[in-house]
Amino acid sequence: PDPNWVRNDDFHNSFLIPYDDALEHALKHSAENGMPDIAVHPGQGKLLNLLARTMGAKRILEVGTLGGYSTIWFARAVPEGGEVVTCELQEKYAQVARENFEYAGVSDKVKILVGPAADTLQTLPSDEKFDLAFIDADKASNLTYYLQAKRVVKRGGVIIVDNVVRNGTVANPDIDDENVRGVRKLLEHIKNDKEVDATTIGTVSEKGYDGFLYSLYL
Ligand code: DHB
Ligand code: MG
Repeated sequence: PDPNWVRNDDFHNSFLIPYDDALEHALKHSAENGMPDIAVHPGQGKLLNLLARTMGAKRILEVGTLGGYSTIWFARAVPEGGEVVTCELQEKYAQVARENFEYAGVSDKVKILVGPAADTLQTLPSDEKFDLAFIDADKASNLTYYLQAKRVVKRGGVIIVDNVVRNGTVANPDIDDENVRGVRKLLEHIKNDKEVDATTIGTVSEKGYDGFLYSLYL
């Protein structure tokens, strides 16, 4: 981690994001179970929470649970009777996430669907719409997840995709791995999709440079 951006996060968060036992527990418990340290950073988690509250989101779809760090931020944003449906490929990760939800006291608001998201997303009924979707799973499948999210997100809803900047590699013609290809394919789709309007907003944190794609389903 770049100490400049560690200090920057620490500085801003010291004013805006108080120490949070449940979120810290989720990160620690995930690390103890050998999971990768790739959750959204606290400033991003809080932004997702604030956006969901700003929209009055009652139903949120997440693709890529991992240890449920962002899921907890979302679960706290939805009102009584709302829910977060989150898709996780690995049962081992889902189990850690369930324990993290229990510790955070949000289990009653979260439903985890375990298995390949490309399959589980297809089982979601299109008459129960989501207000907001957050895609943060394997990057090669970004477009697949985006199209499936669109099927179950309401008009006027929002679809956010994580990791669309990747330290600038997405725009670097010398780089061509499945991750950057997955992001480029999504951008190409959105360029031609008249039903959505979107922007990329770069982010920087101790994890380096990355960004969200924020899209509105018109
Ligand atoms: C990776 C995945 C993520 O969703 C992220 O935010 C950072 C890194 C990864 O697969 O390396
Ligand atoms: Mg991510």
